[in-house]
Amino acid sequence: MTKQEVAFTDYFDVLCDTLSSGGALLVSLNDEGVPNAMTIGWGLVGVAWGRPVCAVLVRPSRYTYGCIEATEDFTVNVPPEELSKEVAFCGSRSGRDYDKFQHCGFTATKSKHVQSPGIAECLITYECRLVQKNDVEPKHFIDDIIDRFYAEGDFHRVYYGEILATHADVARLQAPR
Ligand SMILES: Cc1cc2nc3c(=O)[nH]c(=O)nc-3n(C[C@H](O)[C@H](O)[C@H](O)COP(=O)(O)O)c2cc1C
Repeated sequence: MTKQEVAFTDYFDVLCDTLSSGGALLVSLNDEGVPNAMTIGWGLVGVAWGRPVCAVLVRPSRYTYGCIEATEDFTVNVPPEELSKEVAFCGSRSGRDYDKFQHCGFTATKSKHVQSPGIAECLITYECRLVQKNDVEPKHFIDDIIDRFYAEGDFHRVYYGEILATHADVARLQAPR
C-alpha cells in the first residue's frame, strides 16, 4: 500500500468507526526492538498542550504497557476489513507468547519520527511520541463504569502521544466501499 502524509484530522471518522467496530492496532517496541501489535477499542484524538494528540488506554496487564513505558512512543494503525482475523488475534494473544507481526504477516514500516514502526498492510498510521501519561482514578468514575469495566481492577493507564505524522493510503480510502 502506498501512503502519503495527511492532516491528523483527515480520517477521524474512519478511525472512530474502526475503534468502535473491530478495533485499531497499537504498535510499540519491546526492549529488544521487536514490534508488538495490540488491538485497541478505545482511543481519543484531539488537541492538548498546543499540539495534536492521540490518547490510548492500556491496562497494566498488557505486554504493550511495558513496551510503551520503555520506548515512550507508539503508532496507531487503522486496518482494512480483510485483516479482521489478524485484529482479533492481536486482541486475544499477548506479545509475551507470540511474535504477532510474524504470525499475522504484518510488514513493519519505518516511521519518520518515532522508533515504533507502522504496519504496511493498514490504511492509516499515526506516529505518536509520548508527552503525558496518567492512571484513571477509580474514585472519579461515575455511573456503572467501574462495575462494567474494572471488576478485576487493572485500571488503564492513559498514554497521550503527540501526533508527529499521519500517513494514509488515500487511494484506498477514497475508493468506494
Ligand atoms: C476489540 C478489542 C479492543 C480492545 N481494546 C483494548 C484497549 O483499548 N485497551 C487495552 O488495554 N486492551 C484492549 N483490548 C485487549 C488487548 O488487545 C489484549 O489483551 C491483547 O492480547 C494484549 O496484547 P499484549 O499483551 O501483546 O499487549 C482489546 C481487545 C479487543 C478484542
